[in-house]
Amino acid sequence: MNAFTYSYPVKVYFGEKAAEKNLAAELAKHGKNVLLAYGSGSIKRNGVYDELTTILKATGKNVVEFTGVMSNPTYAKVQEGAKLARENDVDFILAVGGGSVIDCCKIVSAQSKLGSDIWDYEYAEHQQPTEFIPMGAVVTAFGTGAEMNNGAVITHTEKKLKSALWGAFYDFAILDPAYTMTMPMKQVISGSFDTLSHCMETYFGSPREDNLSDEINEAVMRSVIKNLRAQIANPDDRSARSELIWAAAMGENGILKIGKATDFQCHMMEHQLGAYTDCNHGMGLSAMHVQYYRYIVEKGADKFAKYATRVWGVDPTGKSELEIANAGLDALEAFIKEIGMPSNFRELGIPDDLPWKEIADSVTLTSGGYGHLTHEDVLAIFEQCR
Ligand code: NZQ
Ligand code: ZN
Repeated sequence: MNAFTYSYPVKVYFGEKAAEKNLAAELAKHGKNVLLAYGSGSIKRNGVYDELTTILKATGKNVVEFTGVMSNPTYAKVQEGAKLARENDVDFILAVGGGSVIDCCKIVSAQSKLGSDIWDYEYAEHQQPTEFIPMGAVVTAFGTGAEMNNGAVITHTEKKLKSALWGAFYDFAILDPAYTMTMPMKQVISGSFDTLSHCMETYFGSPREDNLSDEINEAVMRSVIKNLRAQIANPDDRSARSELIWAAAMGENGILKIGKATDFQCHMMEHQLGAYTDCNHGMGLSAMHVQYYRYIVEKGADKFAKYATRVWGVDPTGKSELEIANAGLDALEAFIKEIGMPSNFRELGIPDDLPWKEIADSVTLTSGGYGHLTHEDVLAIFEQCR
């Protein structure tokens, strides 16, 4: 196991009425001016907005609304939020939504305290922000686990990049399954697949020998597979929903990453596909995962074989290590079809005449996985996904 330091800054309030029980006390720790951030209006339709604004009013806050945060949030939207926060002397940000709102606010929080442009600050000057407006997250769409980390995935439209920026950790995250029950089933499935992807991208990072983080990870992956099946069979199943929400947080709360490097190469490919097509994150991942793993399986056959037997229950009898490994990928492929997710770019519905080489060349190459891809490898994987 690699050396590590572990501590975690995000306090989680999980369960029914979590906002009603805890939000007022959290808000009392901060100043009067609150930036209430949300997306395109689902929270107004499902009553979450009314519940939260009642609490905000009761605690005497001045609320400034930052609305219309889109899926795959843009850098321009970050700047809009930062301007609003500065102009209104905002003391606290309450982000209400899925990964997009939650990510956008991490960077709003940092940018509003920074004199310079945060993209240049992080990418050109290689600096990390240190001052932030404190924040809380209310999760209404789960899967990304974005509420648990300080990375944000932001689309810089002009630069054609969808990249990570580093901002603040949330002081707290409210995870009430009831707040997610109006999510469209497609998003429930896509979010859950994203969680599974985070687990896999962590599992297939070095070192590949047995370790506690990976054994916990196997349990989380099995849980996501089981509970997603239960959720599809019964969309109202609160127990399955609760398990999926906590699995999503587990994927990104650092526990599965203890003592390990991670891969996240599939994410880097998906992010650039997203930069060019604005595709749904979980669906972009499902369209590439199997092809990516088939491309690298021989470099990590031992670990892929473990994944096959321990996560998918592949019977190893009479099979070589590589055959077991490939049977695991067959199971992943069958699962993607079973849950109705796209398994290639055609099914994802993106045009075929994209500048594939340009996209491949723009993908960040990671170093912690088994593949150690080049940009030519990325292009070859894209070809197999078309
Ligand atoms: O905008 P509204 O009206 O709220 O609609 C949203 C949006 O259309 C809707 N929604 C959310 N809660 C709902 C609801 N609809 C009905 N009822 C509810 N309760 O769901 C749609 C999708 O929301 P979005 O936040 O875009 O989805 P998701 O949570 O999948 O987030 C995707 C973003 O997160 C990034 C992705 O790249 C993408 O930009 N990621 C962030 C990560 C992180 N910071 O750790 C990790 C991930 O790998 C990912 O890259
Ligand atoms: Zn993801």
